[in-house]
Amino acid sequence: MNRQVLIKAENLTFKYGTEPPVLRNISLEIARGECVAVIGQNGAGKTTLAKHFNGMLKPVSGKVYVGGRDTERLKVSVLARTVGYVFQNPDHQIFHDTVGKEVAFGLKNFDLPGKVIEERVTAALETVGLTAHHATYPFNLSKGQRQRVALASVLAMQTEVIVLDEPTTGQDYRESMQIMNLVKKLNQNGHTVIFITHDMALVAEFAQRAIVLCNGEILADGGVRSIFSRPELLKETFLKPPQITALAQSLNRYAIPPDVLKVKEMYELLKARGEEIGCFS
Ligand SMILES: Nc1ncnc2c1ncn2[C@@H]1O[C@H](COP(=O)(O)OP(=O)(O)O)[C@@H](O)[C@H]1O
Ligand SMILES: [Mg+2]
Repeated sequence: MNRQVLIKAENLTFKYGTEPPVLRNISLEIARGECVAVIGQNGAGKTTLAKHFNGMLKPVSGKVYVGGRDTERLKVSVLARTVGYVFQNPDHQIFHDTVGKEVAFGLKNFDLPGKVIEERVTAALETVGLTAHHATYPFNLSKGQRQRVALASVLAMQTEVIVLDEPTTGQDYRESMQIMNLVKKLNQNGHTVIFITHDMALVAEFAQRAIVLCNGEILADGGVRSIFSRPELLKETFLKPPQITALAQSLNRYAIPPDVLKVKEMYELLKARGEEIGCFS
């Protein structure tokens, strides 16, 4: 299958007003079907970068293309048909008086019959586990639930690309897993997914590729396994690999590879090693 680039940044530089640039010379390509994590310390520029992917921000210099189209001349409402964006803070996204109206809102621009809109709203609310809250005032919900309202609004739009800015912040472990498994399913169904997170275990579990931002520049961009096997690189941006990877790295002299990502992988390695030296016989 041909690799089809959906998002492309070329020497993207951005600054807020007269401040120094917060993104410098960013070049990247994201292809159809990828699941990419954007990581980096607070203030690295992750949110600012992600907002260029749906045209909410435009480069000060350089270019961003979505589906081959230069975002500079495209309105957010047009780009929203291709790229759905779930805000880091759901309260920046929610402004209707019921959950149902909130989720339906983005679809109003899509020229869909009312029945289809209602079906999509129902399905999206069911997916995020908020069916019972169709008529609830969003601000009577918990922050975690509001995060899922924001997610449902984007799901209902069925966009080719979905950008999620820290989707699990404010969720407990079970809710985080529900959200990430949903993200995984979307990706398996062909959606291109870009998510920002501070949780390196989620990156190891759910992303194939990671883009590491540091002070507005790309420090590394590659397979998650190769990125996490470079602790010195992560240290530079104050990130720590997942605990299981750190454990593998500390066991390096016992012939455990430094790029273990999952507990199950470690179990298999230790089991094989134990059998080799006869300690399980
Ligand atoms: N609206 C804004 N106006 C001015 N500066 C901003 C604004 N939003 C973010 N910044 C600054 O831009 C830099 C990058 O921020 P951001 O993209 O939010 O980083 P991250 O998402 O990685 O935490 C930070 O120094 C932040 O203070
Ligand atoms: Mg951010």
